[in-house]
Amino acid sequence: MGTRRRRVSVIYFISKLVKWDDLGMEIITNPTQVDIKKAAQALKDGHLVAFPTETVYGLGADATNEKAVSRIYSVKGRPTDHPLIVHISSINQLGKWAVDIPEFAIKLAEEFWPGPMTLILSRSSLAKNFITGSQKSIGLRVPSNPIALALLSQFENLGGAGVAAPSANKFGAVSATTSEAVYEELGQVFSEQDLIINGGKCEIGIESTIIECTQDYPAILRPGYITPEMVKEATELITNPKTGTQKTKTSGQFKSHYSPAAEVVLGELPGPGEGFIALEHIPTPKGSIRLASPKSTTEFAQTIYHALRMGDNMKLQKIAVFLPEENGLGIALKDRLERAANNTNQARPKS
Ligand code: TXA
Ligand code: MG
Repeated sequence: MGTRRRRVSVIYFISKLVKWDDLGMEIITNPTQVDIKKAAQALKDGHLVAFPTETVYGLGADATNEKAVSRIYSVKGRPTDHPLIVHISSINQLGKWAVDIPEFAIKLAEEFWPGPMTLILSRSSLAKNFITGSQKSIGLRVPSNPIALALLSQFENLGGAGVAAPSANKFGAVSATTSEAVYEELGQVFSEQDLIINGGKCEIGIESTIIECTQDYPAILRPGYITPEMVKEATELITNPKTGTQKTKTSGQFKSHYSPAAEVVLGELPGPGEGFIALEHIPTPKGSIRLASPKSTTEFAQTIYHALRMGDNMKLQKIAVFLPEENGLGIALKDRLERAANNTNQARPKS
């Protein structure tokens, strides 16, 4: 999960900017340092920039600009009382946004940042109601994706304090793990000055672990790559599921979320013409359409959202998923897929 800055800076220098005129907006592929500066300036000017992280693509806006942040809510169709995660370039920026940071949260940040973990902390006066959904806490994350880190550093060089970024998808829909998926979800509602940075496929493929750190013990609000065992080892504290406050609004905690248009069923064999996602060694039932055959739980996480999207693009009515074992990332996969299977909004139009 290292930053691999050197490799990326080489890519920057040999890369080029692609303008897709017919899109009415710009998609930057293989961003150069000049492109990163341009994207940071776009954020500073109040525009939206979708960018890759190691988990899923984020839909970024200046976290101190109320108007820019309100566009995040409108393009996603997300209720405004759902808080956003603020992305920062390093642990050194933590004190800008959070106060009364417990020692165990510092340990977690030192151990797992940059990386796929979001900490919920008591907010500073910089974190306004329009970011936190009027909650007294703030979600903070330092991503490890080198493009994301370069963008955040550049944004801070321009005087920015942090980039608010939810997953770059319509509210309740499947997160985007490629720039093509971002364009599919949001391209039509983007304006000409908004940007998408194409950084290829996301390395992990499912959203960060969210850990609430506003009480005496860490509480995992959303499972992810960073597991309870890893939290326990780093903090010497057992995560206490009961400390997750009922009042906290975490949209990923909704029973129905992460849902494609197709009906998702878990552990049921697919019928003819229905989609199927399972580990490679599980054979495809006759007549069904194999959407993914990951070799491991890690690969399962990397490909699941893309496979669900493929099912929708093929207009499949139903997708059957056999989940991998329920440990490590398997716990997070079960969490996401159970919510996808609980979709109460099958008629939701896809954008
Ligand atoms: O991996 C990720 O976390 C991605 C990438 C882009 O960083 N972001 C992401 O953001 O998944 P979003 O908004 O789709 O999901 C973040 C979740 C939401 O369910 C939100 O309610 C919760 O984090 N959240 C944010 N701030 C919070 C707070 N102060 N208290 C409780 N939950 C919070
Ligand atoms: Mg999301």
